Amino acid sequence: MADIGRYRAEDRRAIEALYRRVFGHDAADAHRLKFDWQHRSNPANPDGPPLIWVAREGTSVVGQLAAMPARVVVRGREVDGAWGTDAMVMPERRRQGLGELLLRQWDASAGVALGLGLSESSAPLIRKLRWAVVTVPCLVKPLTRRALRMPNWSVTANRLVSALTLPFVKVVGRPRPLAAEIHLVRRFDDRFTALWERIAPKFDLAVRRDAAYLTWKFATPPHARYTIATIRRGDQDAGYVVYRHIHEPLGRVTLIVDFLVDPDDEQGLQTLLGWVDREARAADSDKVRCFALHAGFRRQLRRAGYFPIKSSLELIVKVNAMDVPASFYEQTDRWHVTLGDDDYDR
Ligand SMILES: CC(C)(COP(=O)(O)OP(=O)(O)OC[C@H]1O[C@@H](n2cnc3c(N)ncnc32)[C@H](O)[C@@H]1OP(=O)(O)O)[C@@H](O)C(=O)NCCC(=O)NCCS
Repeated sequence: MADIGRYRAEDRRAIEALYRRVFGHDAADAHRLKFDWQHRSNPANPDGPPLIWVAREGTSVVGQLAAMPARVVVRGREVDGAWGTDAMVMPERRRQGLGELLLRQWDASAGVALGLGLSESSAPLIRKLRWAVVTVPCLVKPLTRRALRMPNWSVTANRLVSALTLPFVKVVGRPRPLAAEIHLVRRFDDRFTALWERIAPKFDLAVRRDAAYLTWKFATPPHARYTIATIRRGDQDAGYVVYRHIHEPLGRVTLIVDFLVDPDDEQGLQTLLGWVDREARAADSDKVRCFALHAGFRRQLRRAGYFPIKSSLELIVKVNAMDVPASFYEQTDRWHVTLGDDDYDR
């Protein structure tokens, strides 16, 4: 039977080989590129060894689960959380309980165990463990007639829908004036820590978005290039939005990866969204896509021309550091979770 233990430097090559086998070459190259950033530069893991659980049989590595520490606010208390990523077990050793052992180790080490995105093989395991799974809603704002194309429709059906919906897309996607000053920045300064401290009590669950975390997460990742736009009022930063433009088979999409404003500052969010619209148009995007769990933010997104669509982004949450009632996992209206959490956006 395998032993589960913490990562040691000499495991690195074996983990890379297993990663290549399980997730493929491209994913393995990306994993190698971002290893130091993910495990050594994370401000929530200062000088500590990487928080990776390894299943070993003798000298062989047969499985791993990498955790990404983060400070998390849960109903007004800040606790140590850990995002579980890249769970993998060697194909010949699956269905023997190793995946469960790795997940339990991660869970036992975390004040809050969190995960974003389930795979075909991890979903049944999470169901078996009965951990809470919450869907993170997806909202889309159409900007061109190509925005409403669906991969499972015929070309004729797609053309017809594009033609019929064009007048509506033009109204929804019309440019609106910006109500405040927007700045593009390369890193987050301490004013964002002040913003976070000010508004953190308004969230029942959210990663602590202070300057150190935000700079690490969105200004320095080696595998993704983000644009960061901030809204400034006087000498205060009132919020930010992080986005990037991507190509998909049916068109170009601007992805809102993360954002933060006071949930009561509707003008702030509308201004940031108006900025993203302009940037998306300049980049020739057909639509803007945003994942947001917080009900107030979703209401404001709808008022800015976004529509809810089916989401397949699932969030796993298990709070260990404090007692929460079962209803906690059902009342998610004040949870702030976005695509930029975990290392889901790669
Ligand atoms: C996810 C993964 C790590 C699970 O590892 P594992 O060692 O097979 O997990 P376990 O043996 O502990 O499985 C526990 C339970 O999960 C469920 N399960 C696991 N694989 C399953 C499958 N293919 N079909 C149905 N149920 C499955 C079963 O309930 C199983 O319990 P059982 O065998 O008692 O019925 C492994 O399947 C894997 O490496 N998958 C590929 C990589 C991946 O997708 N990782 C997840 C990224 S989010």
